[in-house]
Formats: sequence, structure tokens, C-alpha cells
Amino acid sequence: MTAPAVDATLHHQPVGASDQIAYGFVKLLRFCADTFFAKRYGHRAVVLETVAAVPGMVGATLNHLKCLRRMCDDKGWIKTLMDEAENERMHLMTFIEVSKPTAFERFVVVAVQWVFYLFFFGLYLVSPKTAHRVVGYFEEEAVISYTHYLAEIDEGRSANVPAPQIAKTYWGLPDTATLRDVVLVVRADEAHHRDVNHGYANELIGLPQIPVAPCPPHAVLEPTWKAAA
Ligand SMILES: [Fe+2]
Ligand SMILES: [Fe+2]
Repeated sequence: MTAPAVDATLHHQPVGASDQIAYGFVKLLRFCADTFFAKRYGHRAVVLETVAAVPGMVGATLNHLKCLRRMCDDKGWIKTLMDEAENERMHLMTFIEVSKPTAFERFVVVAVQWVFYLFFFGLYLVSPKTAHRVVGYFEEEAVISYTHYLAEIDEGRSANVPAPQIAKTYWGLPDTATLRDVVLVVRADEAHHRDVNHGYANELIGLPQIPVAPCPPHAVLEPTWKAAA
């Protein structure tokens, strides 16, 4: 499996005040992450993937509830957003094999989850369009960070260790796969999330759709009742 090519420079130009707020908020988070992690890309990936896996589940929950109330079709949004959350969680489960978080980072994860979940839930209730735009910008930054991580590996500052087994199984990578191959597929996943979320934000305000970067093929996680049946 080869990771699809990724345009790491793709950026949605903010349109209007809510896009500006979304972009400003994400840039503030970027500044905090750069200050806290500097070039510790493995640790950065572990902590930030615990945050990245939140919005998809919030969006799926709130769209699910909206469809129940309005008794209408979800146009595929719920499963798409749940898949995004699951995919981000698999990023986390992969990078936890590469870098072990410190006790302080684990504390940060717990504290940030409380704040970020409640914040994003509230934002999605008030303005789903802004919420998806925030995620679109968040994913733009993720693509940039993983591009920097690739450079660290290529220039020998981060060891190109063998890929964790969970990553080989999930993305169907060969036995000889390395961390570099993993970062390539994760970055392609982030580019896919970026375009899906900017696309949803556009759809909510009637802007034209954008092309969506392909998601690298990965294993489908089956419900446990199938194994029990
Ligand atoms: Fe991710
Ligand atoms: Fe993502």
C-alpha cells in the first residue's frame, strides 16, 4: 500500500468573520502546541491525536440527534464523522507504540479533553459551519506537522524505527514498513479529513464543494458481536 500524494500547501482562504475566528483559534492552538512540544514530534502526535479524535464524535452525535428530531436523512454525515473519529483514534493507538507520553502529558490530555469536548460541543450547537471550519484548519496544521515530522525522519533527527504492528495491520503496510511509511499514510488521512470538513463547512453555507483528497485504504474495525456470533 502506497500513501496517496498529498498537497500539503492547500489552505482554505477565510471567508467572513466566522472563518477568521476559526483560523485565529487554530493558529493560537498551533502556537501553544509549538511552544509545548517544539520538535518532539512523537509526543506531539500522541497528545494531539487525543484531541483530534473528539470533533468527529461530537459532530456525529449532534447530527444523529438532529436527524432524530427532524426525522430526516443525514446524507451520510454521521458515518463519515464517526469514521473520522475512529481513524484519529487509530492514529493515537499507532503513535502510542512509537512515543510514550510523560505523566505530565497524560495530565494535559485529561485536562484538555474536559475543556475541548465541552467547548467543541457548544460551538457545534451554535455554529456547525464554524465547527467544521475549525476542524478543516486543525487538519491543515496536522498535514503541516506531519510534513515536518517526515523531514525530521529524512534528515536523521528522528529514528526511522520499524512500523508498529497495529499500523501494518490497519493500513495493510508491508512487514518491512517503517515509521516514515506510517507518517505518510497518517498525513494522507489528515488531508482527507481537512477536505471533508472544509467541504461540510462550505455545504452548510452554500459555497461550492472542493475536491477531497483520497483516504488511504485501511482495515474496517468490526463490532465485537461479529466475533461473538
Ligand atoms: Fe490524526
Ligand atoms: Fe485528522
